[in-house]
Amino acid sequence: MSDSKQLAAAPIRAAIAELDPSQTLSVDEVAALLAAPPKPELGDFAFPCFLLARALKQAPPAIAAKLAEQLAADPNTGFAAVSALGPYINLKLDPAARTARVVSAALDPAWGALPDGSGKTIGIDYSSPNIAKPFGIGHLRSTAIGQALANLHRTLGYRVVAINHLGDWGTQFGKLMAAFERWGNEEALLDDPIQHLYDLYVRFHEEAKANPALDDEGRGWFRRLEQGDPAAHAYWERFRALSLREFHRIYERLGVSFDHEWGEAYYNNMLAALVDDVKASGITEESEGALVVKLDDLGLPPCLIIKSDGATLYSTRDLAAARYRYEQLGFEKFLYVVGHAQAVHFKQVFAVLDRMGYPWADRCIHVPFGMILGISTRKGTLVFLEDILNRGKELVREIMADREGFTDAEREQVSEQVSIGAIVFYDLSRGRIKDYPFEWDAILRGLRPGEHGPTGPYLQYTHVRLRALEEKFAEKFGALPEALSGEATEALHTADCAHLVALLERYPATLRQAASELEPAVISRFLLELAEGFNTFYSSGTRVLSDDEAATRARIALVVAVRRTLAHGLTLLGVPCPARM
Ligand code: ARG
Repeated sequence: MSDSKQLAAAPIRAAIAELDPSQTLSVDEVAALLAAPPKPELGDFAFPCFLLARALKQAPPAIAAKLAEQLAADPNTGFAAVSALGPYINLKLDPAARTARVVSAALDPAWGALPDGSGKTIGIDYSSPNIAKPFGIGHLRSTAIGQALANLHRTLGYRVVAINHLGDWGTQFGKLMAAFERWGNEEALLDDPIQHLYDLYVRFHEEAKANPALDDEGRGWFRRLEQGDPAAHAYWERFRALSLREFHRIYERLGVSFDHEWGEAYYNNMLAALVDDVKASGITEESEGALVVKLDDLGLPPCLIIKSDGATLYSTRDLAAARYRYEQLGFEKFLYVVGHAQAVHFKQVFAVLDRMGYPWADRCIHVPFGMILGISTRKGTLVFLEDILNRGKELVREIMADREGFTDAEREQVSEQVSIGAIVFYDLSRGRIKDYPFEWDAILRGLRPGEHGPTGPYLQYTHVRLRALEEKFAEKFGALPEALSGEATEALHTADCAHLVALLERYPATLRQAASELEPAVISRFLLELAEGFNTFYSSGTRVLSDDEAATRARIALVVAVRRTLAHGLTLLGVPCPARM
């Protein structure tokens, strides 16, 4: 809900109470009733009087007329015009006061920070790549969406605990060890660990088709690992450390960070107790030598707790992890940002937690997302995320090659910022549940002169343009404004400016909506609208910087407000704002 609605609702509520002291409508309830009039000339809001008719035993139009008269007589309502039209009261806010209030709020250093989550903790499990497999494009989405949701909840005042649930345990490690024993190459491992481990992984699966004994070897190694065999453990530690080093390089480029890297292995020493407790809660059954929790009544396949060979599973570790995290964090909500292919897995895990009697089981939420299509996934040619980031940078550098005035270092930095911004924004600008094709043309649209596209580079450009206006202003007039008074808003009383003010006013509500839908695209779409609004204003011929100092000051205040909002939103999404482009 916008601030304006709240502001408009307070005097209406007071007028109603005066008319009918028995009324118990709250400001929020009044605000919720406020609608947009059918025509904008009629005002900013319309308030319907039907609801009051029964209590007052009068016809709605009569009530509307009385309320309108009362409101018009009060000089302190903040309304510029009030009129009754049939059963409605139409209200116009004082545009100068509204513009001053909204722009000043956006100039305040605390703009974008909200108190909603204060005192509450939210845990988020995201990125969570698998160490014995490569960090492919598939993990980009979890990483980008998860980091955006973490940033968003932080700005909403929550204590956010970000957890990277690394896939650092499981039979695939046994396979990798068996493969390394047979075909491993020290030099190749040190030279390009992810590539070498991936090659081993692919080769193992290829050869195991013809030679099933390999699978037994893999299982054997994993058993040794589970039993604490030093040679197996040394392998594990090495593979893990080498992979993590590479992952961190990617995280650094993407501006991604975690509070904890509690991978699956972290919970190993908690598994025995977990299994005991699942058994003790009386919900387990033996099935072909395995220990399972049947979930037929929920239409779900059984959740495996222990395999017939005695090994624990992904699900066992997720159960232990959930319990540990709740003990450690006492969360209000826990989000699992994982592809929709794992929907059944999370339903099973949450159902088992529920059956174990944990009242917080329903605070665990799977936040699913669609797939990235069109990027080769042929066996053995999985595309590494790092290669994509490098390719993006190269493409941006080519497109921007003829731009002048950049040092080599600047060019390097800008290409990186633009390509990361383009890739991340593209990912976060569509509904998270949808699959999308990965197409460089669409991702980078707007970077070439004369092109337009709803992309990261388009927003980054707009930001650069706004920043340039600020700099020019500062050269001529000194410090940028820190607030705007009602009397100074005259130059902003145009339709383009009013549209920008209305958009700015919606920013806090936009953040709240994005959080309640767990959907970063709500922010992306808002930022595109804001940039569009500014570009319309800017290209309409209004000069921001002119000889009219009062008008210039008002317009630059709006420019700063828009730029700060753009920068704040882009930062939440993980899109960098280059100084120049
Ligand atoms: N490592 C898993 C994968 O790549 C994702 C883990 C998600 N988090 C979890 N708690 N299960 O498929």
